Amino acid sequence: MAEDFKILAFTGSLRKGSYNKFALLAAKKLAPEGVAVEILDLAAIPFFNEDLEAEGVPEVVEEFKRKIAAADALLICTPEYNYSIPPVLKNALDWASRGADSPVNGKPLAIMSASPGMLGGARVQYHLRQVCVALNMKVLNRPEVFIANAHTKFDENGNLTDEYTQKAITRLLTALADWTIQLKK
Ligand SMILES: Cc1cc2nc3c(=O)[nH]c(=O)nc-3n(C[C@H](O)[C@H](O)[C@H](O)COP(=O)(O)O)c2cc1C
Repeated sequence: MAEDFKILAFTGSLRKGSYNKFALLAAKKLAPEGVAVEILDLAAIPFFNEDLEAEGVPEVVEEFKRKIAAADALLICTPEYNYSIPPVLKNALDWASRGADSPVNGKPLAIMSASPGMLGGARVQYHLRQVCVALNMKVLNRPEVFIANAHTKFDENGNLTDEYTQKAITRLLTALADWTIQLKK
């Protein structure tokens, strides 16, 4: 396992009680030795607008891009909105995709999703994978982590209590780190 392997994590949900945010907090705790997970809140990122971009990319976006560049890999845990990607997440990825020096170009990524529904956000994961082709991201294929029936898997304080999901998240983080190291060889 790598030493000081840095994962930048974010979600497409802004709500306080977000299951996807709770899953990222769980990932931070479950990260294997040598792997650090930093969670970034996307709330301050403005709607993408080419006029705004032409005037000067907002500092909050520049900071987001710098953090992506500095990370060894990314972790997204996203809700599914109408079978697809929440606007907050798509917007952030659109900003990050811009410029010849786009930091997402070639960046390894692992995806998770949480939903109270039975499919656990499976459909958003495949939409997100499609978008990541345009961004030339290196998306880890397996393991796939779908947190279905999410309302039953966290306690009232947002702690992940489901052992199967805990193990799945640890496996995902380990696979992401191992694979990123392979890619760099
Ligand atoms: C606009 C909207 C559309 C939604 N569409 C879906 C959907 O297609 N599939 C699904 O599993 N859940 C859907 N949901 C329910 C979300 O999975 C649920 O609100 C979930 O808790 C959101 O994630 P969060 O807890 O991280 O905020 C939708 C919710 C909203 C607000």
